[in-house]
Amino acid sequence: MKKLMIINGPNLNLLGKREPEIYGSLSFTEFLDEVKNKYKNVSISHFQSNIEGELIDKLHEVGFEYDGIILNAAAYTHTSVGIGDAVAAIQTPVVEVHISNTFDREEFRHQSYVAPHTKGVIVGFGLQSYELAIQSFLG
Ligand code: DQA
Repeated sequence: MKKLMIINGPNLNLLGKREPEIYGSLSFTEFLDEVKNKYKNVSISHFQSNIEGELIDKLHEVGFEYDGIILNAAAYTHTSVGIGDAVAAIQTPVVEVHISNTFDREEFRHQSYVAPHTKGVIVGFGLQSYELAIQSFLG
C-alpha cells in the first residue's frame, strides 16, 4: 500500500471558516474523510502546523520513508528558504499544492521557494488540488 503524507502550513487549520470565497466552505477534515473513503487502497496521513520549524521537522521525519508528500506550505511557500531547503534535502518526492490560483492573486504569491525542488505543482483547483496530487502518485 502506498504511503502518502499531506502537510499543510499556516492558517490551513481554518479551512471552511477562513475566507470561504477564496478557500471554500468545507473543512479539511471533512474533505480528508471523503478522500480517504475514495482511495481506500492508499494510506493517506495528514499533518498541519502554523509553525515553520514543525513543518521542516515533519518533512525530515517522513521524507526518507513515505512514497509521496503533498505539501501546501501556505504563506511560507512565498517566504521560507528553510522549507525549500528541507524539500531539497529529503528523498521522498514532493508535490506542491495550492487551493487558490496564486498566480491570479497578489504578486508576492507568485514566488515559491518550494517549487524548484518539487516533482510538480498543482495550483488553483480548490481542494481538488490535493486529490489531483494524490492521483499523481498512483498508477
Ligand atoms: C495557499 C495560497 C497562499 O498564498 C496563502 O498564503 C495560503 C493558502 C492556497 O492554498 O491557496 O495560506 O497556499
